[in-house]
Amino acid sequence: MPSLINDNLVKTLFKQKTAYTPCWVMRQAGRYLPEYRETRKKAGSFLDLCKNKDFATEVTMQPLERYPNLDAAILFSDILTIPDAMGLGLYFEDGEGPKFKYPLQDESTIQKLDIPNVEEKLMYVFDAVSSIKKTLNNQVPLIGFSGSPWTLATYMVEGQGGTDFLKTKKLVYSRPDLINHILKINTETITKYLASQIDAGVDVVMIFDSWGGTLAHSEYEIYSLNFMKVIISNLNLLGYQDIPKIIFTKGGGQSLQAQANSGANAIGIDWQTSLGNARKMTNDKVALQGNLDPSILLSTPKVIERTAKKVLDDYGKGEGHIFNLGHGITQFTPPENLEALLETVRNYSPKYHQE
Ligand code: CP3
Repeated sequence: MPSLINDNLVKTLFKQKTAYTPCWVMRQAGRYLPEYRETRKKAGSFLDLCKNKDFATEVTMQPLERYPNLDAAILFSDILTIPDAMGLGLYFEDGEGPKFKYPLQDESTIQKLDIPNVEEKLMYVFDAVSSIKKTLNNQVPLIGFSGSPWTLATYMVEGQGGTDFLKTKKLVYSRPDLINHILKINTETITKYLASQIDAGVDVVMIFDSWGGTLAHSEYEIYSLNFMKVIISNLNLLGYQDIPKIIFTKGGGQSLQAQANSGANAIGIDWQTSLGNARKMTNDKVALQGNLDPSILLSTPKVIERTAKKVLDDYGKGEGHIFNLGHGITQFTPPENLEALLETVRNYSPKYHQE
């Protein structure tokens, strides 16, 4: 494999020395960018963007063209491509987020859930990866991703996002056999999905566990973390030990030690958690990714500079910090504010990497 020109992200994931703290932001390609809104209009819809490799490549590249200080690209797609491939009928209604036509709301539908033909049904994702890799020309690493088994299960059972998860949690407490069936199918599917993304060229994989933090502390490991661990160890058994793996449980700050022992190279930290404490709790065992509150990007370059420095100070000296937001960038962010953030990280962080 030809080597990356900017390999700071990959080095940091292995806790190797870099000259500054690498930075990328979750949802860096998206609605806050006017050029994204333009391409989306051309494509017709968000799903049309994801399913066409030329559009997916175009929007993946947009933030990199605008911001020379980004240290990674992330595949433009969505975590819900998997339940869509399973036949649940994903659709988006304007302003309402994702929905499913055929959610898993009774026992017989759940029992019938099966692993889809990943290579065939999700080929458009792997085609997008190949096309993006070619366009990137090894300038920066490409991050591939998937949702976690639990986070996908919440969408599959609820039929939509942003709920109180009562249907999914009812299954946890009353029919663990059924939720475990869904989680097992998701785990096997995700393993295949990430393996194929790696085969198509991604340099790093990340598992988004956006709703793991909604589980009770006692259930988090049982219903979310343990399944992410299986994916990591399966990928290693398949020969992908050299591909760094990031897990990110939003609201998972109470279980950092367990996450650090998951086999992941890095864990994502949300903004409710102190990065400095997270580093102490995990004892420098893994790299940490985070954790600026995304809403700070709605303020001014001055405030952004001050708070970004605080995040870097909080992690402190040494390797293993990937600067990111604590969750996705909001659609209301003025694009020049992200520029201010990236400049601050690039200019202020080198002092933490000197001998
Ligand atoms: O980070 C990136 O730039 C890569 C692209 C990416 C998207 N979704 C694009 C997207 C990634 C990594 C995701 C992951 C994703 N999708 C997650 C996990 C991360 C998280 O935010 O917790 C989740 C929960 C989803 C499900 C999803 N997709 C939701 C809830 C929504 C609606 C969000 C909203 O703001 O309305 C989406 C749609 C979506 N995914 C958009 C983008 C750019 C907005 C689509 C549009 O209207 O153009």
